[in-house]
Amino acid sequence: MEKIQAPKGTRDIFGLETILWHRLEKTVRETARDFYFGEIRTPIFEYTDLFARSIGEETDIVQKEMYTFLDRAGRSLTLRPEGTAPVMRAYIEHGYHVSHPRLKWYYMGPMFRYEKPQAGRMRQFHQFGFESIGFLSPGSDAEIISLSWLIYQKLGFRRLTLEINSLGCPECKETYHRTLSDYLHRQHFCPTCRMRADRNPLRVLDCKDPTCREQLLVPDFPTIQQALCPVCRNHQEALFGLLEAVAIPFTVNPLLVRGLDYYLRTAFEIKTKALGAQDAVGGGGRYDNLSNSLGISGIPGVGFAAGMERVVLLLEQQEQASVPGNNPRLYLAPLDLAGEKALLNAAMELNRHSIPVYLDFADKGIKQHLKRAQKMNIGLILIAGELEVRNRRYALKNLMTGKQVPCDLATVIKLCQGATEDDEIT
Ligand code: HAM
Repeated sequence: MEKIQAPKGTRDIFGLETILWHRLEKTVRETARDFYFGEIRTPIFEYTDLFARSIGEETDIVQKEMYTFLDRAGRSLTLRPEGTAPVMRAYIEHGYHVSHPRLKWYYMGPMFRYEKPQAGRMRQFHQFGFESIGFLSPGSDAEIISLSWLIYQKLGFRRLTLEINSLGCPECKETYHRTLSDYLHRQHFCPTCRMRADRNPLRVLDCKDPTCREQLLVPDFPTIQQALCPVCRNHQEALFGLLEAVAIPFTVNPLLVRGLDYYLRTAFEIKTKALGAQDAVGGGGRYDNLSNSLGISGIPGVGFAAGMERVVLLLEQQEQASVPGNNPRLYLAPLDLAGEKALLNAAMELNRHSIPVYLDFADKGIKQHLKRAQKMNIGLILIAGELEVRNRRYALKNLMTGKQVPCDLATVIKLCQGATEDDEIT
């Protein structure tokens, strides 16, 4: 029979790698808590319209990357390709625009895009994200960028770069669209770009075709930076000033548009040189008009999301694959049924004291237990059989020194917590 494997573009996460995931998740949660962002968990699938209207019909995500299907009642549903539109949907659905217009939420979870899989690019991947809704000021853009930068710093990444652009407001965007569209009609871009030249010319800046990309780099290519209105320019300058004040280095990339249509003004990406082609470890921006596409106008917002697989790849490189394990402090070795009962009880009590243990009920012979404990690099072994149970004392053996002493559970707990002077065994 043919072997069933995980679907293309998905992967199992297990073993030592999970330690890195836990570290990342912990850092995100702690930073979110300390910046007063509450958690939101939205459904894995939403009505397709939510993404089609908010991300933009012309984007690669909507045109070719969504996992869309009909449910049994014929409704079109889509596995979420990103988290911002669902968060805004939830904000409006729960009436926050009326009751608590200013809200800060963070999230973590799987996203789905039908992309060509390669290292760091998956069909099911995970994001953590932060959204500040109801805030218009450039200070909120700076807060979002600072806290994402802080997370990367806490994880030990020192060589990331931050690229920023402004995509303008609807007015300057419109002026720029006209200039760009005229320019594109005079050049030789790919058929998709030519189609987009009238409908959504900004998307041309996101084209992956190498000949198109080359043409974006010529000196007379018109950029949105040249078309910014005074209000957008001031917003950008204020943001730059705030980032300088917190010593976050950045460069302006006038070609940065991002793959989603909902951005206005600030757009940014955090990049690394360590992951090859998939160089964006996170990105975000301001989306003051996203709510309009969901039927409620005038709700500003700014946010950021990071690809967790890419962050974990960076962590792996940094740790050079030598992840410090959460090694059990004690190996519990039962010699018979009486020992199993006693050590199961002991395991529960040790766990109440947060002492990690490894329990092995497969082996009964002391030799096998010792071998396994050595292989697992566990220094202390707690042995129990009928004799030890009758005497109400375990045998505690230090594998480094070879010393073995009888010991009650209270002493074992103290020893493992390092709260005893008893150097007989430790
Ligand atoms: P995005 O740039 O599409 O933005 O995705 C954010 C990050 O998710 C990327 O920088 C990348 O690290 C990761 N990512 C994207 N696609 C994949 C993939 N196929 N495999 C692995 N990682 C991937 C958004 O999703 C916006 N919702 C961000 C945002 C939040 N804007 C405002 N608030």
